[in-house]
Amino acid sequence: MEEENKTNIDDIFDKYLDADTKIFANREVLSPHYVPDVLPHRNDKFDELAKIIAPSLKEGSPSNIFIYGTTGTGKTAVTKQVLTRLKKSAEVRKLSFKYSYMNCQHVDTKYRVLTQLCEDIGIDVPFTGLHFDVIYQKFKEALDKLNTLHITVLDEVDMLYKKSSESLYVLTRMNSDLESSKLSIIGITNDVNFKETLDPRIRSSLSEEEIVFSPYTAEQLKDILTQRTDVAFHKNVLDFGVINLCSAIGAQQHGDARRSLDLLRVAAELAERNGDEKVTELHVRKAQQVIERNTVIEVLSSLPIQTKAVLQSIFIGEGKSEEITTGDVYEIYSKICKLVRLDILTARRVGDLINELDMLGIVTAQVISKGRYGRSKRIHLTVPHRQVREVLEKEFRLTKIFEMEDI
Ligand SMILES: Nc1ncnc2c1ncn2[C@@H]1O[C@H](COP(=O)(O)OP(=O)(O)OP(=O)(O)O)[C@@H](O)[C@H]1O
Ligand SMILES: [Mg+2]
Repeated sequence: MEEENKTNIDDIFDKYLDADTKIFANREVLSPHYVPDVLPHRNDKFDELAKIIAPSLKEGSPSNIFIYGTTGTGKTAVTKQVLTRLKKSAEVRKLSFKYSYMNCQHVDTKYRVLTQLCEDIGIDVPFTGLHFDVIYQKFKEALDKLNTLHITVLDEVDMLYKKSSESLYVLTRMNSDLESSKLSIIGITNDVNFKETLDPRIRSSLSEEEIVFSPYTAEQLKDILTQRTDVAFHKNVLDFGVINLCSAIGAQQHGDARRSLDLLRVAAELAERNGDEKVTELHVRKAQQVIERNTVIEVLSSLPIQTKAVLQSIFIGEGKSEEITTGDVYEIYSKICKLVRLDILTARRVGDLINELDMLGIVTAQVISKGRYGRSKRIHLTVPHRQVREVLEKEFRLTKIFEMEDI
């Protein structure tokens, strides 16, 4: 029996290792987590950031820094790299330097921010039970004892501001509370309108210095891709035009390096899975479809249940008639809620949810008349029906609606 298992496992390894050698020489360098040591076309941003922070390792406190630019332009990669390198050179020179990196998608309350800061400088705090002011005090005292410069990176800072603007306020004020240490903040966002939405008191202190990451051009994306292809692939497996196409599509998508890299990786994976010898432009086109499909599904899956019920009403309505209005949607929505025991929201609230779906680009809602009951809108789904159904079927409360005849 044991012998048999072993053979199976060997077979599996042989199969995948063989597959690995056909197209990929090292797929790791194309994985979303891999960051190369050298980031082409970002030397200037690297220097800009280092120039602001480095001098304050010796004296003075560095300004808070606000970094913005569209998605996939290297903000996170450059910032992390500058900080790791500064840490190394600070060690060599025996200067005290610490930093914390947090992604505010996950660290999104003042409590979490402070707990993470405490952990990063080595003090234990219980997850719950302590009053915020107590943790704040603990952190402040511990940091002061370290006599250090501390940089706090708040990546995707817009998320934190949305959920807890107070955290940002507290952090931007902490410096004036500290006696022998210095704290400065690097806030990163890809929301170009974020700065305008900031409370003026926070805005001025958060953006003492600003660094803008502009979108990559197609030529720059080409260099970013070629830097990895020699290591990632065997010789001659990339068809002529593959790199150009991945770069061109990335450049169209706001100069997004992540998109270009994803396209190349997925295209190569498709070729490999298909047993093809080469990656061609056709694989890239297919990869584009796969990636776009995944983003739609991700967005739909993360909608709250009430919004999903509204989406389902639109989906069902569209299946019945060519033109549906807010009134039709509300009628179906109320039925669904009764059947699955969801609270029935008011027509006005459902109208708001439809507007949210419109803003997310999932439906279009066009005003057609201003009747007795307010504005009526014509609603249209703009994403593929198949994907909507796929997501709704996974929602256990809503899936049974699809089995009912008379809705
Ligand atoms: N100049 C570059 N050279 C090589 N790889 C790069 C470069 N810029 C970005 N990348 C790669 O592209 C991907 C996206 O970069 P990064 O995560 O830094 O983008 P970002 O600006 O933080 O995007 P977002 O706003 O979505 O967080 C990463 O895998 C990163 O390694
Ligand atoms: Mg980022």
